[in-house]
Amino acid sequence: METHVTLPKWLDDYIFNELGARYCRSNADMTVIDWDKSDMLNYLGTYFPRSYAEAYCIFSNYLEQQSNRFKGQEELSILDFGSGTGGEIIGIITVLTKQYPDLKKIKIIPIDGNSHALQLFDKVIKEYQKHINLCLEWLSSPIHIDDFYDLSVLDAVLRGEYDIVISFKAICEFVTKQQFENRNAYEHIARFLMPKLTENGLFLLVDVTTYNDTTKEWLPKMLNMGLHSANIKKYIQNEGYSQAFLVTHSHKINDVSKVAWRLITKA
Ligand SMILES: C[S@@+](CC[C@H](N)C(=O)[O-])C[C@H]1O[C@@H](n2cnc3c(N)ncnc32)[C@H](O)[C@@H]1O
Repeated sequence: METHVTLPKWLDDYIFNELGARYCRSNADMTVIDWDKSDMLNYLGTYFPRSYAEAYCIFSNYLEQQSNRFKGQEELSILDFGSGTGGEIIGIITVLTKQYPDLKKIKIIPIDGNSHALQLFDKVIKEYQKHINLCLEWLSSPIHIDDFYDLSVLDAVLRGEYDIVISFKAICEFVTKQQFENRNAYEHIARFLMPKLTENGLFLLVDVTTYNDTTKEWLPKMLNMGLHSANIKKYIQNEGYSQAFLVTHSHKINDVSKVAWRLITKA
């Protein structure tokens, strides 16, 4: 199983030399939704590469075994809930272009409440378009979800189904901020996202594995309880409590991130 990647050189050069990203780690229970433009450059140099690596490794390991999943499709779509700077989107596209050389177009809907993060994503994806042959089409959606009502409004405007639905290290912030009062955020977001998945689609939930001080509960335990309550049973997951992924780039060799992941399918 692949668990270590090096950031592609064009991407490394672009985020650190052109955009001014910085490597700087933060504390547990961080709420990136509140970060300003300068903080976001720390995010880009630290957590964006980690999300790239996690997504790249999980998708590449899975699709090497299950290459028929999207075979023959010329177009794929990705919905990312809490996309931030979107390292995971870049990681997934990198795998898809390797695995499916006939792919012609990828449509992406990144949703996030932090407009600084989305602006950085827009720059990175625009740069990525220069390095690949297929067409990337994206519509960044700056939406701050404060409660159930906002989620239902988003539900009404989000049309259609997506081949790939993802949420990386975002639901932990809904837990910390008690966005859905004291209800399980994993359950409600999974219930919201699951119907947006195509019949042969892949739904990947990734999150940090810390003890959450607001709920006084370990996040992977809340994740399991949330999926169970949402009646989601068909998935593969990391072995053990968490899985470590390593990413190397110009500002850090073998940077480690430990996450819990669940790769959910309908069929
Ligand atoms: C830790 S970051 C993860 C970003 C990205 N998925 C990644 O892995 O690099 C969490 C993201 O969730 C977003 N987020 C948190 N709470 C949110 C809310 N209530 N509404 C919309 N976005 C939210 C933040 O703005 C932030 O970009």
